[in-house]
Amino acid sequence: MRKKVTKAIFPVAGLGTRFLPATKSVPKEIMTLVDRPLIQYAIDEARAAGIKEFIFVTSRGKGALEDYFDHAPTLEQELRKKGKDKLLEVLKSTNMESGAIAYIRQHRALGLGHAVWCARRLIANEPFAVILPDDVIAAEKPCLQQMVEAYEETGGSMVAAMEVPPEQASSYGVLDVREDMGNMVSVSGMVEKPKEGTAPSNLAVIGRYILTPDVLGNLNKLKSGAGGEIQLTDAIAAEIDEERPVYGYRFRGQRFDCGSKSGFLQATIAFGLAREELRDDLSAYIHDIVQMGKAAQ
Ligand code: G1P
Repeated sequence: MRKKVTKAIFPVAGLGTRFLPATKSVPKEIMTLVDRPLIQYAIDEARAAGIKEFIFVTSRGKGALEDYFDHAPTLEQELRKKGKDKLLEVLKSTNMESGAIAYIRQHRALGLGHAVWCARRLIANEPFAVILPDDVIAAEKPCLQQMVEAYEETGGSMVAAMEVPPEQASSYGVLDVREDMGNMVSVSGMVEKPKEGTAPSNLAVIGRYILTPDVLGNLNKLKSGAGGEIQLTDAIAAEIDEERPVYGYRFRGQRFDCGSKSGFLQATIAFGLAREELRDDLSAYIHDIVQMGKAAQ
C-alpha cells in the first residue's frame, strides 16, 4: 500500500521584496486577497487534500504567521460576549490542532531546495507535499487534492504543470516531456529558469509538489544551480537520472501569480467577484471604469 500524503511544507522564508514597502513589517504571506491572507488559501487547500501536519519554513520577521495560526483569547472572548457567532466560526479556520503545525527557521536564503531540506527531519521517510503560497489556484476541486488523487494511482514524484507563453518560460522550472498522457505527462528532464530560447517545452512547474523522501536525499548534496541557489527543481530532476518516475500534472483551475503585483491584483478581482456579497458592486464598478477608459480613448 502506498503511504498517504499527510505532511506539507510551506516555504515562507522569502523577503517579498517585490511588495516593499508593504512587506517591510508584514510577511508577504499575510497579504490579503479580499479578507483572507495568502497563507490561509494555501492551508485550506492542504486540508482539503488530507494534509494533517503543516510545516512552515520561516525566517526572521515572520512572527505574524505564528500568531495568525494561534488562538486569540481576548478577541474570541469579545466576539463571544457580543454574540458574533459567525465571526467566531470564521476564526476557526485559522486554528490548528495542537502539534499539527511546526516552524523551522531557514537561517540563510539559499534557495527553495534548501528551504525544503531544512524540514527534512520532520518529513523523515514519507511522501510529502510542498505548497508555494504565492501561487494561488482557484479550482472547483482544490489543486493539491487533484494531485493527491493522481498520485495515489501513480506513485513517484509529481509537480503541478501549466502551459505558459514561450517568452515566459525563463521565469519557471520547465519540464522536458517523455510521454504526454493528457492530464499527466511523464517527465524526462527538468530545467530551472532556462535561458531564453532553450526551454525544453512550454510546460512550466507551478508551486504544488508531491515528493518522495528520495528527493530529500538528493537535496542532501546541496549543490547550487540556477541563480546560485539550491533548487528544488534540480533535486527532482535527479530522481529521473536515478530512474525513478516523475510526473507533471496538468491541474484544472486558474492559477494566479501572487508573487507579482499584477497577478495579485488579478487574484483580488477574481476572488472578489467570486464572493456573492461583493459580486454586484464590484462588477458594476469594473464595467464603469472599462466604459470610462473606452470613452477616454
Ligand atoms: C519557484 C520554482 C519554479 C517554479 C515557480 C512556480 O520559482 O523554483 O521551478 O516554476 O516557483 O511559481 P520562483 O517563482 O520562486 O522563482
